[in-house]
Amino acid sequence: MHHCLWKYIIVALSFIFLSFFLQENNEEHLEYSLSLEEEKKKILWQLDQERIRFESKNHLDTFKEMQGNSPLLHHANYKFLAGAPPQEKKLLTVGISSVWNPHGSSLLDTLQSLFQASAEPELNCIVVLVHLSDPDPEWLSQAVANISGLFKPHIEAQKLLVIHSCLSGSPFPRDLNNVNHSSPCEARYSRQKVDYALLMNFAINLSEYFLMLEDNVHCTPKFISTIYWALSAWKELPWVIPEFSSLSFSGKVFHTSDLSRLTSFFLLFHKDTPTHLLLSEFRLLLAQNTPIRFSSSVFYHMDNYSVLEDTCFPVEKEKILGEPDNPVASVLTDVMTTSNIIPQYAYTLNKEFYSTLDPIRGNYLTVIMERPQKVIQIEVLTGSDKQGQVELGYDLLENSNGCARYSLLGPLVEGNLDQRYFMKKILWRSCIVYDCWC
Ligand SMILES: *[C@@H]1O[C@H](CO)[C@@H](O)[C@H](O)[C@H]1NC(C)=O
Ligand SMILES: *[C@@H]1O[C@H](CO)[C@@H](O)[C@H](O)[C@H]1NC(C)=O
Ligand SMILES: *[C@@H]1O[C@H](CO)[C@@H](O)[C@H](O)[C@H]1NC(C)=O
Ligand SMILES: *[C@@H]1O[C@H](CO)[C@@H](O)[C@H](O)[C@H]1NC(C)=O
Repeated sequence: MHHCLWKYIIVALSFIFLSFFLQENNEEHLEYSLSLEEEKKKILWQLDQERIRFESKNHLDTFKEMQGNSPLLHHANYKFLAGAPPQEKKLLTVGISSVWNPHGSSLLDTLQSLFQASAEPELNCIVVLVHLSDPDPEWLSQAVANISGLFKPHIEAQKLLVIHSCLSGSPFPRDLNNVNHSSPCEARYSRQKVDYALLMNFAINLSEYFLMLEDNVHCTPKFISTIYWALSAWKELPWVIPEFSSLSFSGKVFHTSDLSRLTSFFLLFHKDTPTHLLLSEFRLLLAQNTPIRFSSSVFYHMDNYSVLEDTCFPVEKEKILGEPDNPVASVLTDVMTTSNIIPQYAYTLNKEFYSTLDPIRGNYLTVIMERPQKVIQIEVLTGSDKQGQVELGYDLLENSNGCARYSLLGPLVEGNLDQRYFMKKILWRSCIVYDCWC
């Protein structure tokens, strides 16, 4: 007889108010310049619609039709500085863009950390694409010499590719480079958006997924496996930007099929909005209403991250939540057990665990909060490789047997789920459901 051990379910709850940046910024209306092209207006209208009734999907069509290929990119020229594109399509492109930095560059440290954190089989799934976007030829040749010196084996194995791009002959560069930016951050956002748009445009055909990194991050060991397993679990579910870090830019993953849309979006709004806000808007436009944030970050900034960068690219402080503090709740399930184990054991924070017979497809376990709670992190441990998904419910039913509406939090990844949750409002009594796909 098979036993599926449901070790325990942790629902870490807290009243700490976690601000969700988009929400705050919804108020300060995005002030896009008045020379808006029709497309800009259309997108902004859609964004409003999205906010008003974010359950409707009709508005998506127009945005999806805005298929990439910004005219600007027709003028993009790419030069290979080191390496060659891999022969076969990879699973993941790790894209890093780098420019000359007055405080010194951490690009080499970033690459070192990336390769050190990865085992050979992991590296076989990826290609690292470095975009050196500074126009200074002296800097370029020095940077390439440094990279080639340190990472020759990876370059020869077609796992590392270094490119440069320029927008020669385009009507836009004047517009892109000579904007009088009202703050140093604005100039950096603009540069970042253009540089990453060029990088992403190049990466479209290299792989299935694209991971965005800055040139000053530390990668934790096995980050490729972490991303691989998460994306495998999410394969059949809709997603736009899963986030593997609390950094505002690094650690976000995209379908490469979304990249042409994203590059157009970056170029269309290259002047105004901070990059991280633009990314949230993009996610909203493609109907992913809440961030998908895995609780444990796999990318961090290097220690010597400069103050300017800190102001322009805010890092959300990793809240140390400590131990989970499951508030009073009742637990309902239709999973069969052998002995007199009660479902409450799955939720109680002690050594007791909940052991069941093999659950079958459609089995559920629901946690119903006794009082209103603000859930900020949810962890589900099943102690098995069972598949299933976790949903968060709203509007408790009269009979208290569940909620009227549910939204997907995510699938189990290798039998577990550990995600941050960003809620827009304090909710009333809610439900957390584990649904088995076994
Ligand atoms: C930044 O810090 C890393 C170690 O965290 C160090 O190896 C590197 O040399 C530093 N880079 C700069 C530009 O100071
Ligand atoms: C290349 O390496 C040298 C020696 O470590 C360093 O002084 C220089 O700043 C590096 N240049 C670039 C562009 O990476
Ligand atoms: C930017 O501002 C400077 C002075 O503040 C001015 O001389 C220059 O013409 C402006 N450039 C553009 C493109 O507006
Ligand atoms: C990607 O591949 C498609 C189809 O093979 C091709 O039409 C397109 O030009 C390629 N895009 C880039 C940026 O190389």
